[in-house]
Amino acid sequence: MTQKKYKVHSQKGILLNANESSKNLSSAIRKEIQEAIFDIDFNRYPDDACSLLCETYGNWIGVPASCILAGNGSDQHLGFLIGMFLEKGKKLLTLSPDFGMYDYYASSYHADVVRFNVDPLEPMDVDELISFGKKEDPQLILFSNPNNPTGHYVSNEQIQKICAAFACPVVIDEAYGEFAPDSCLSLLETCQNLYITRTLSKAFGLASARIGFLISSLSNMEKLRDYHVPYSVNSLSMAAATIVLKHASEFEEEIDRIKKERDQFLSKTYTSLSLSKSDANFLLIQTVKISKLLSMFAQKGLCVRSYENKNYCRVTIGTTQENRQIQEVLDAFEKEETYANE
Ligand SMILES: Cc1ncc(COP(=O)(O)O)c(C=O)c1O
Repeated sequence: MTQKKYKVHSQKGILLNANESSKNLSSAIRKEIQEAIFDIDFNRYPDDACSLLCETYGNWIGVPASCILAGNGSDQHLGFLIGMFLEKGKKLLTLSPDFGMYDYYASSYHADVVRFNVDPLEPMDVDELISFGKKEDPQLILFSNPNNPTGHYVSNEQIQKICAAFACPVVIDEAYGEFAPDSCLSLLETCQNLYITRTLSKAFGLASARIGFLISSLSNMEKLRDYHVPYSVNSLSMAAATIVLKHASEFEEEIDRIKKERDQFLSKTYTSLSLSKSDANFLLIQTVKISKLLSMFAQKGLCVRSYENKNYCRVTIGTTQENRQIQEVLDAFEKEETYANE
C-alpha cells in the first residue's frame, strides 16, 4: 500500500495550530444562518451546481460563476485536481516545505512527488524552481501561495513566469490569499494552464462548514465540471457560506487587524530566534532550541503547530489577547537565551 497517512490530532488549549480564525462568526450572522437553516428542504439533495453560492462568491472575487466550482473544503479540490491530472508513473512538482495533504492525495493516485526545497527563512527563487522543474518534467505543479508553513508570497509576475514556462497545469493554492498583497485571479485570462483553489476556512472563519472553491478559465472548468463528485456541498454549509459571503466586506476589518498584528511581530528583532517574513495569518518561528520554545508555548496553554525533525514551528495569529501571550513567550525565550549566552 502506498497511501500516506495524515493524522488529525485533537488539541486542547488556545488553538493556534491550524490557522483558523480565532473569532466565531458574529451573532448577527449566526442568527441569519439559523433562520436560513430552518427553511432548508432537508428531505431533498442539495443544489449540485451550488448556483447561488458560486454567484455570490463570484461577485466577491470578480469572476463569473461559470468559472467556479464549490467543494467540501479546498482540500477536496486539491484531491480532485491531483486525481484528474496524475496517476501511476506521473509526477507532481511541489515545494518542501508545503501543505502535507498534497503528498496524501498524490499517494492515493500512486503518483510520484518531486519537491523543490525552499529555505523557510528566504523567499523562493522562482528561476531556480523553473530550472528544477524543467529537469523533472512534471505533469502537475502545485504549491500554496502564501506558502504553508513559511508564509512566503510569490508575486503575480512570478506566477505568470511559472505558468508560461510549463505546458502542464499549475495549481496555486490560495488558502491564505486574503492575507497576501494580491491574488493571481487576475492571471486567469492570460494563463490557460492556471487553476486556483481558495477557501472560506481561514479569513472567513467558516472552517466548520468545509467550503472551498476551484477557479479556472471557462474552457478548463467546462472540461472538469463533469468529473466532480456530485452533491459534495451539503445544503446547511451552502446556506451558511452564502450568508457569510453576503457579509464579506465585514470581514475586511478583522483581516486588516490580523495583518497589522502579524507585522508587529515581524518588526521586532531577536537574536535567539528567527521569524520568516509572512504574508499569511501565521508565523514560522525557527530556533536551534525549538523543543524549549515549544514547551514554553505549551506551559502557557498555547497550542502551536510543530513538525517532526524540524527546528521551527508555526503559530497562527490569534486575537489581540492571544497575540500578547505569544509575544510574552517570545520575549521570555529571548531573555533567557540572551542571559544563557552572556
Ligand atoms: C495551504 C492549505 N491549503 C488548503 C487547506 C485546506 O483548506 P480547506 O479547509 O478549505 O480544506 C489548508 C488548511 O489548512 C492549507 O493550509
